[in-house]
Amino acid sequence: AAVARIRNFSIIAHIDHGKSTLADRLLQQTGTVSDRDMKAQFLDSMDLERERGITIKLQAARMNYRAQDGQEYVLNLIDTPGHVDFSYEVSRSLAACEGALLVVDASQGVEAQTLANVYLALEHDLEIIPVLNKVDLPGAEPDRVKQEIEEIIGLDCSQAILASAKEGIGINEILESIVLLVPPPPDQTRQPLRALIFDSYYDSYRGVIVYFRVMDGAVRRKDRVRLMASGKEYEIDELGVLSPQQVEVEELHAGEVGYFAASIKSVEDARVGDTITLVKEPAEKPLPGYVEAKPMVFCGLFPTDSEQYEDLREALDKLRLNDAALQYEPETSSAMGFGFRCGFLGLLHMEIVQERLEREYNLDLITTAPSVVYQVTTIKGEVLEIDNPCELPDPQYREKIEEPYVRVDIITPEEFVGPLMELCQTRRGEFANMKYLTPGRTTLIYELPLAEIVTDFFDQMKSRTRGYASMEYQLIGYRPNPLVRLDIMIHGDPVDPLATIVHRDKAYYVGKALTEKLKELIPRHQFKIPVQAAIGSRVVASESIPALRKDVLAKCYGGDISRKKKLLQKQAKGKKRLKSIGTVDVPQEAFMAVLKLQ
Ligand code: GTP
Repeated sequence: AAVARIRNFSIIAHIDHGKSTLADRLLQQTGTVSDRDMKAQFLDSMDLERERGITIKLQAARMNYRAQDGQEYVLNLIDTPGHVDFSYEVSRSLAACEGALLVVDASQGVEAQTLANVYLALEHDLEIIPVLNKVDLPGAEPDRVKQEIEEIIGLDCSQAILASAKEGIGINEILESIVLLVPPPPDQTRQPLRALIFDSYYDSYRGVIVYFRVMDGAVRRKDRVRLMASGKEYEIDELGVLSPQQVEVEELHAGEVGYFAASIKSVEDARVGDTITLVKEPAEKPLPGYVEAKPMVFCGLFPTDSEQYEDLREALDKLRLNDAALQYEPETSSAMGFGFRCGFLGLLHMEIVQERLEREYNLDLITTAPSVVYQVTTIKGEVLEIDNPCELPDPQYREKIEEPYVRVDIITPEEFVGPLMELCQTRRGEFANMKYLTPGRTTLIYELPLAEIVTDFFDQMKSRTRGYASMEYQLIGYRPNPLVRLDIMIHGDPVDPLATIVHRDKAYYVGKALTEKLKELIPRHQFKIPVQAAIGSRVVASESIPALRKDVLAKCYGGDISRKKKLLQKQAKGKKRLKSIGTVDVPQEAFMAVLKLQ
């Protein structure tokens, strides 16, 4: 297509504001997908995504649209993931666009995640078209939400489109606005090839399928290309566009969006943000903005049955083919046996990987509580990165410990400001700012240790605001704090996966709460089990799990048979996720107990 008639755009929206529904409508209206093929929500294709109602991986779709000016346009929709863990991928897909639809639920309003992505889009100089969705709802207040967008983002909303993705209202107007307002890509066809990778996935037949936007020059099937960050070279076997199913083409030039396959063995070799150029006529410099994704959160994964160790390794190897941000290395624990220490972009990323390992690879895993990465300066002046609490050097060997801090932006109805401030204070938060957005809505900004966020912060925020607040965070650097390692002993033995790093002032409280929680979670045994929390050799809290009374099951025998069945079923279920530590069976929940303290 001629560059002047290409429009590349993405959709920015908060979860549930209707991005997928709108994307489907656009595909339908442009005849890209026939009504018959229109399964619910074409763009979100992964099961997990659908179940959780969030977009994890981004995709792209090319539409042909005949505008009111009589011309045929090519509209490339580049989808973005809707979660902070993947904000780097969002920034790369925005870098591949000239415009964005800002979709806001007219019955709700602007949310924190929306804001974060709008700011990213503004950084990339994208043309932003505000769309107020769900105007069919009786509770829709488009005027209030328009005012909110104007005040918070400073975006002129006089031309904002009122739409209902569900009822098909405003869809033509949106398509026309994309043509009229989003600038065409600059005509850089004569330059040496530079194409930006914004997504990729592993296909077992063709190798990695790379999604890219050509920024300069052109690429043809059979071209030899070089990926400038990884330095790897490949011959393109297959080149095509996404309509939205893959359709092969011979050539793609500046401004176009497409995919290629080149027998690439792992997504690690074709990372998001890397630049593709031609081997025979390479570009001088790669496109700006490439960053290697860095894991922020680590945890241990151990098979409940040690025979599954090799299976776990194979499963991780396979997942990694498709997930360059996933890191892992073997870990041996005296309590847990052989497993892996794994690094993730964030908590959601961690949950997704765990769930896939269990569902798709049928593994039974014990997951240890997540930890952030600490920077420890030793007395010799070395700086160590510690992602596993049990590897923290003893106090006499360390000069200082620093921990990652994040800036958290929370948008909330005014009435919840009090409870949220209290939550942030108890999580060692430092108040940074508070702004009234529109009558009744407030943004609250705090600086907090990341370690306090990766626990149950998000859940707590939701429950304290009945689901009305939204949050977003970004890393702002490392800060020193008086941190200590809290060890847990069960039946006299230290259990290293239960060790955590806590602030000195909170150690006593955490120790007490944690031992109480463990007492609740660890089933009774034939013998009494002491549970202790200690800093170094000093015990700061202790509890004990009383021995099992012998007649618990016996009592049921004579009585209600269904009750006995239930009890046995419950035990059988529980059995699946137990790890024997010495003579004590510890259930999965106990390893996560530190996340569930009140
Ligand atoms: P993520 O994929 O998680 O980012 O969510 P999303 O923004 O894609 O939201 P989605 O399209 O899945 O819509 C969320 C819910 O809102 C669904 O139940 C939709 O049916 C509903 N919805 C979407 N658009 C409209 C609309 O215009 N009106 C009404 N009444 N409901 C809508």
